[in-house]
Amino acid sequence: MKVIENVQEMQDFIKGARAKGLKIALVPTMGFLHDGHRELLKTGRGLGDVLVLSIFVNPAQFGTKEDFKTYPRDFEKDLRIAGECGVDCIFAPKAGDMYPEGYQTFVEVTEASKNLCGESRPGHFRGVATVVLKLFNIVMPNKAIFGKKDYQQLVVIKRLAEDLNLGVEVIGVDTVREPDGLAMSSRNSYLTEAEREAARCIPEALKEAEKGFLKGERDSGAVVGTVKKIIEKEPSAVVEYIKVCDKDTLADLDRIEDGALLAVAVRIGRARLIDNRILGKDKEGGRSKKCSA
Ligand code: PAF
Repeated sequence: MKVIENVQEMQDFIKGARAKGLKIALVPTMGFLHDGHRELLKTGRGLGDVLVLSIFVNPAQFGTKEDFKTYPRDFEKDLRIAGECGVDCIFAPKAGDMYPEGYQTFVEVTEASKNLCGESRPGHFRGVATVVLKLFNIVMPNKAIFGKKDYQQLVVIKRLAEDLNLGVEVIGVDTVREPDGLAMSSRNSYLTEAEREAARCIPEALKEAEKGFLKGERDSGAVVGTVKKIIEKEPSAVVEYIKVCDKDTLADLDRIEDGALLAVAVRIGRARLIDNRILGKDKEGGRSKKCSA
């Protein structure tokens, strides 16, 4: 397994691979790998001749009051997991190489970035879209794999790839969960034992909401109310948002149909946790088929 830190070296390696006709699969991450990342890597391994894992804690997607400095990092463990998952090359650039002095170019996916996390994390998706575009330009993947836990991120990146004709197929992989249903996330490591216990309320609330939908509830307000009531039973949980949206445009929905996205962001202690669930059948159709996460 190759480890490359330098942008130019990465581009040279990829040009060599592409010249041999090899297909490239990229799994972009911020490291601190867990079983959710293993699933992304497993998917990538099956899709490319060369599997590239990028590890880069991207300063451009963190707000000034957010956790960039304290974001968990463990490169030795990441190396081990990458080896176990059959990664061919780790690309781990330094911030100064990705954003050298004088850097001033950013890309924005305007509509898909507005709702949900876009409201509480201004500039976040601009930072994500920019770094992902840079990674695509450097690694030139045929396929790129992202998790559905960060559902809005996936929609934003699909839109980016389509709108800018990047020629990269963006693939979403189902969320991997702990045995009690909590979505795997590097930020779960911020939770104390008691907070971790409290965090079960998030998947439980989403599950209850889906039960209500399956019994015939179609009013967004009622579904949001169910989720809120369950989460707010936990004194340490602070709801940031609970929303029902169109899964492709991410526009708010008043009436729910099969395939709507129920998405939440909740703060517990130091951790900001996001999760989501597609209600009912995940139907495809029209333009949405292409950008369905
Ligand atoms: O999901 C992540 O880990 C990051 O947002 C990503 C896509 C690697 C961009 O920094």
